[in-house]
Amino acid sequence: MGMAGSGKTTLVQRLNLELNNQGTKSYYVNLDPAVKSVPFAANIDIRDTVNYKEVMKQYELGPNGAIMTSLNLFATRFDQVLSILEKRAPDLEYVLVDTPGQIEVFTWSASGAIITEALATSFPTLLVYVVDTPRTSSPTTFMSNMLYACSILYKTRLPIVLTFNKTDILSHTFAVDWMEDFEKFQEGLDRQGEDMGYMSTLIRSMSLVLDEFYKTLRKVGVSAASGDGIDVFFRAVDEAAEEFARDY
Ligand code: GTP
Repeated sequence: MGMAGSGKTTLVQRLNLELNNQGTKSYYVNLDPAVKSVPFAANIDIRDTVNYKEVMKQYELGPNGAIMTSLNLFATRFDQVLSILEKRAPDLEYVLVDTPGQIEVFTWSASGAIITEALATSFPTLLVYVVDTPRTSSPTTFMSNMLYACSILYKTRLPIVLTFNKTDILSHTFAVDWMEDFEKFQEGLDRQGEDMGYMSTLIRSMSLVLDEFYKTLRKVGVSAASGDGIDVFFRAVDEAAEEFARDY
């Protein structure tokens, strides 16, 4: 999951490439009904079941409403997806699920919750939250993105690997510094310079609250475009999976 344009699909494409190169058996699910083309071979594709353009026409909906309705229609048949996955599971190392671009359509819809819960109760499930690093380099946007990740953590109660993408454009070290050292985040806020009045007080208080959340997170930097950091990403995923499997 991740904000629109953060690089979810490119990351799945990169992981697909890496896993194929390693000869690791994996399976791919596309849950974005509106995507024109999927740059990885999706084994299960929502577009094979639901015609997004037809949904838009028939129900007279705009783009987001049509994505949500398509997901609702798909969710009613998700038991079939689960039984396919269950059959294939013994031969698979990973199942990768790409979600729709507009994150709130997935995270705040009933079908998104049903699908996430169905996966999480059937398999050890990890959430990869993709962050567009260059677009998150100001303390205020960073804070709102982290609040979003935090709300998803509490909503899904799944382990999260926070994945700072596009590190070929900007390294994610500033983000790690801000998460590990409250003072550095405050300095970043001060450097931002504008007098934001109550906003700045709110952000300072929120960053103290988020401190607890940061402690529970695994964070990695990757470039889905170049493949940089993908080995670190897999280590984080495997560690989180091992930890999760112990309690599963
Ligand atoms: P939606 O599902 O449409 O919201 O987008 P998404 O989150 O799946 O992002 P997508 O993979 O479509 O990437 C969005 C844009 O970011 C594309 O132009 C990608 O080429 C670009 N992009 C993705 N990952 C990287 C990266 O690691 N580095 C750079 N420089 N660009 C990237």
